[in-house]
Amino acid sequence: MDKLVIRGGTPLAGELTVSGAKNSVLPILAAALLAAAPVRIHNVPRLRDVTTMIALLRNLGADVAGEDTTVEVTQSGVSRFRAPYELVKTMRASFLLMGPLLARFGRAEVSLPGGCAIGPRPVDQHLKGFEALGAQVELEDGYVKARAPRGLRGCRIVLDVPTVGGTENLLMAATLARGTTRIENAAREPEIVDLATCLAAMGARIHGHGTPVIEIEGIPALRGCQHRVMPDRVEAGTYLIAAAATRGNVRLLNGQPSSLRAVLEKLADAGAAIETEPARIALDMHGERPKAVDIETAPYPGFPTDMQAQFLAMNTVARGTSRVVETIFENRFMHLNELSRLGADARLEGKRTAVVRGVARLRGAPVMATDLRASFGLVVGALVARGATAIDRIYHIDRGYEGIERKLAALGADVRRVSGDRATP
Ligand code: EPZ
Repeated sequence: MDKLVIRGGTPLAGELTVSGAKNSVLPILAAALLAAAPVRIHNVPRLRDVTTMIALLRNLGADVAGEDTTVEVTQSGVSRFRAPYELVKTMRASFLLMGPLLARFGRAEVSLPGGCAIGPRPVDQHLKGFEALGAQVELEDGYVKARAPRGLRGCRIVLDVPTVGGTENLLMAATLARGTTRIENAAREPEIVDLATCLAAMGARIHGHGTPVIEIEGIPALRGCQHRVMPDRVEAGTYLIAAAATRGNVRLLNGQPSSLRAVLEKLADAGAAIETEPARIALDMHGERPKAVDIETAPYPGFPTDMQAQFLAMNTVARGTSRVVETIFENRFMHLNELSRLGADARLEGKRTAVVRGVARLRGAPVMATDLRASFGLVVGALVARGATAIDRIYHIDRGYEGIERKLAALGADVRRVSGDRATP
């Protein structure tokens, strides 16, 4: 199993190109099933989760061809409608195949994603929406089995929570339904806007994406299209936070500052000088230690839960005490114990609040990655720690951060990947 060994203490400095967004490309790959002709997707990041989604599409009979960061999905061979447990268990986003399969082929069987490391994550809102669209939904042998032999029909859906995946699944399903669908209390994340833009390029009629009410006028068929995936705002924010924690100075290219407002504001509160252009973000700490900043996660446009662990890690070496409140997921504080191993002073107060007292420095130690974003929290800790930190189980990081050691090294970090006893450059 690969480890990442980081020798901390160097401020991150230099220029970095942000990859395509993981949480955008996964629904877009699933959406390709809706079209009647090939869909060509550009700016695809090379990540384990993308490989998993491609394996799922091939398993259904789709042809997926790709070179470098462009992937083309051809759906004409799809002859199976089941996403098996073996693949779904490794990636919850597999459940996004449900909407497209149901809408295009009238049937879908997708293994129930179940709980995961960041707490229970139900799919009740997805299922409620599919039923409202006229599908028969059953749970059998750990699979969600849905059928709509005569097609889906437009309806009004009011979500109990603004779920990102639920909004995406229902949006995709509604594009081929008869009549108009209205999704209320929809999630507003930029990745939903990106998905809707791709669906519109296929000919779908969608209004209101990016607002809490989305209306979809169903049409009988969608055509092939080309789409360029938006930049990964979580990757961008993560490297900015890491730079701030190390008192660094970085410039991100191909970033999208408009999707990162809440994070940029908090980084400015921490003392960072930030300059933005439409596709470029520069951050400079002028060599200063960050100030502690309180954060509370919330659905977009609030502070993203996917950057909570990294920001908390920065707070562990900040001047002052901060409170970090997680409102989206239970159990998304597993990085606390591991950061404590590096000398951080952070404790839980109840289930949803962490109180972090900044210390002058951390010390390197062996730590264990637990989930994708928590793992990068440990990377931030390792980058500021004195001495070497070995982070075990970094397959979690490879799910969502493209070329992590290459990108960190480009910013001057002392980092190497070690597989077993063997170090690779
Ligand atoms: C997406 O997950 C992201 N994943 C997550 O990123 C992200 O943390 C999350 O949205 C929140 O922003 C992808 O886009 C692939 P939700 P998703 O449905 O869609 C509750 C990462 O690290 N809920 O918006 O699974 C749920 O329990 C990942 O890149 C229901 O109650 O998240 C949670 O409390 C991790 N019923 C809240 O809603 C439902 O049917 C938000 O979940 C669905 C969700």
